[in-house]
Amino acid sequence: MTSPTRREFLGGAFVLMGAASIRLPMWAHAASSLAGGSAGGQILLGVDYYPDQTPESLWEEDSRMMAEVGFTNVRIAEFAWALMEPAEGKFEFGWLHRAIDILHKHNLAVILGTPSAAPPPWLSAKYPDIFEVNAHGERLHPGGRRFTCPTNQVYRKLSLAIASQIAKKFAENPGVIGWQIDNELTLGSVQRCYCNYCQAGFQNWLRTKYTTLDNLNQSWGTVFWSQTYTDFSQIPVPLLSGGEPNPGLALDYDRYQSYANTSFAEEQLAMLRQMCPTHFVTTNNVGPPLDTIDLRNLYEKLDFAAFDNYPGFFEMLMSQQGKSPSYDVIATGISLGHDFARSVKGGEPFMIMEEQSGKAGQSTFAPQPETGQVRLWTYQGIAHGAMGVNYFRWDTATFGAEEYWHGILNHDRSKSPAYEEIRQALKELKSLGQEVLYSQYAAQTALIFDYDCSWAIKIQPGHYALDYMTQVTSWYGAISASHSGIDVIAPEADLSPYKIVFAPLAYVMSEKQAAKIKSFVQGGGMFVTNFRLGVKNESSQIVRTPLPGLLREVMGVTVADYVPIYSAKNAVKFAPALAGPDGECGLWTDILQPTGAEVLASYTKGSHAGEAAITMNTVGTGKAVYIGADLDGASLARVLRTLSGLAGIKQPLEAPPGVELTVRKAGDKQWIFVLNHSSVSQSVSIPKSFTDLLTGEAHTGKIDVSGYGVRVLQAT
Ligand code: GAL
Repeated sequence: MTSPTRREFLGGAFVLMGAASIRLPMWAHAASSLAGGSAGGQILLGVDYYPDQTPESLWEEDSRMMAEVGFTNVRIAEFAWALMEPAEGKFEFGWLHRAIDILHKHNLAVILGTPSAAPPPWLSAKYPDIFEVNAHGERLHPGGRRFTCPTNQVYRKLSLAIASQIAKKFAENPGVIGWQIDNELTLGSVQRCYCNYCQAGFQNWLRTKYTTLDNLNQSWGTVFWSQTYTDFSQIPVPLLSGGEPNPGLALDYDRYQSYANTSFAEEQLAMLRQMCPTHFVTTNNVGPPLDTIDLRNLYEKLDFAAFDNYPGFFEMLMSQQGKSPSYDVIATGISLGHDFARSVKGGEPFMIMEEQSGKAGQSTFAPQPETGQVRLWTYQGIAHGAMGVNYFRWDTATFGAEEYWHGILNHDRSKSPAYEEIRQALKELKSLGQEVLYSQYAAQTALIFDYDCSWAIKIQPGHYALDYMTQVTSWYGAISASHSGIDVIAPEADLSPYKIVFAPLAYVMSEKQAAKIKSFVQGGGMFVTNFRLGVKNESSQIVRTPLPGLLREVMGVTVADYVPIYSAKNAVKFAPALAGPDGECGLWTDILQPTGAEVLASYTKGSHAGEAAITMNTVGTGKAVYIGADLDGASLARVLRTLSGLAGIKQPLEAPPGVELTVRKAGDKQWIFVLNHSSVSQSVSIPKSFTDLLTGEAHTGKIDVSGYGVRVLQAT
């Protein structure tokens, strides 16, 4: 089958839309035009390919082999600026045309990258002002990638110019279906730029935000240390000074940097929308840690969220940090990335733009994926709502900074250990059918992820070991043990679809958010939070009321004192409702004084022995639970699971540790994805009979899942 022309594709999309009486998202239009006819074309199953790094004599063979594996698409050219614009204003796209033609001939649709993540040497030499400046005031150097300032107008202009040239050349090319803007705006080696352009940009952003200097001075409390500004041009960026920066300024600077990156991407987006109206547009991010740029803003105007998934890299980083990289922890971190990606656009399908396919590594290798793991990771993405997976990368580079990053072909072009596995996964996925692949991920619970809290805690952790991402990840891990489905939502999101909402370290609290929480609880929901609740307002000022500030009434407690914990650990004794062995607590304890809430655990040590550590308040028909202590992992898991049970959460099935369950639904149909992240075979009890869609076999009573195995179950 040959790929349709753009006209045929559009016609097909209209027929499809008409038949289904729905407005399909742009990516689905693109997917429906892809190779494979009825057997494929439901989701994007591709590979990241670098014709720019590959001798032209191999493009034909590569394309043929990629098509044989079953890929429907490739992503290309995101780092090829130097080839596309070898000198300023001199463009050469002949090679790209030839590459796309060959790919198209083999029914491989193209996602084109705009190349702004890696400006060429002529540009760096001519415009050295575009380099980022780090938190020590040192300017970065060219020679790597992502070394540029997001505010710099010259860099923006040149980035937009090259992107517009590519768009102009390929808008009508039948081989192209969509765009990736830049590459991993969330990755920068320094993550924040502190150059003069950013300072000026920050000052302008502040003018718009505060209108008057009075507002700004009040909001930041600049009277402290004599920092009252009398002109916007005096406002510094939070570079090294004598003493810590003003917390309000520092938080606004994080917000500004996030905005600057988003508006950088949006400049290219506006152009692409105009020049390529039938193409989808996205950008990729690095996944967890999730807090460099506000991804909700970044993806607001893009067609879907996309991220790069490297479980092996996690494993390597964890062992580097001396942590034990158990499969549970890694699988959980990866699930969080998926759930975040889906939730970024309110539950819409997302794409994995780069999926690890081999040993990942830059100067050192991450572990080789075990047999079955690449397929498992693929299904994990789909289970959480992905509508596309691109594997990184087709062949393995023999030169450049990523020679150690193994792809699907090895250096000598032999097939990698995952080659057959990927082929199998693609075949299976294509046969699953649109109903399963387009079904909704079902979440009974939500976890609030708040950028303000993350940034404000980074600025002033309160305890050197207190970290928002760590708290969020361990709470996510504890909650996911109930297999209840988790949406990772914004603080201002609608809470009403959930039975229980978790909000660890809700340190910055707005009035709007507090009101939402109150009405959620009054209406019968359960809100579960922990220490440092409501300490700050959105200006990063500490509230002048007893803690937990705006949520005092809802929580039914006052924080009598808060105590950072260093060597003298504390412990808690649980009331029968949370029955279990005494828990240990480190890091932090909020000492709670109930003003209506019941006590679910008390401290057993130190000057606050006997005082409340965990409380639950009843408001209307709902509950508000305050966990004042940083509990040890086992206690936290038990407590959150018990609370989930009290809130009416139902597990889809009983699964042993290491086995993840997710549910996807369409109308009254549902599918349970069973993902075994452990290396050994595990059994899952099933209350009724199920068919495994991957094997076609029916099962009753119990089902075995092999090590790193996957089942997709449908009730019969
Ligand atoms: C990603 C990046 C790719 C490649 C890959 C492996 O973060 O987007 O360009 O660098 O990691 O390192």
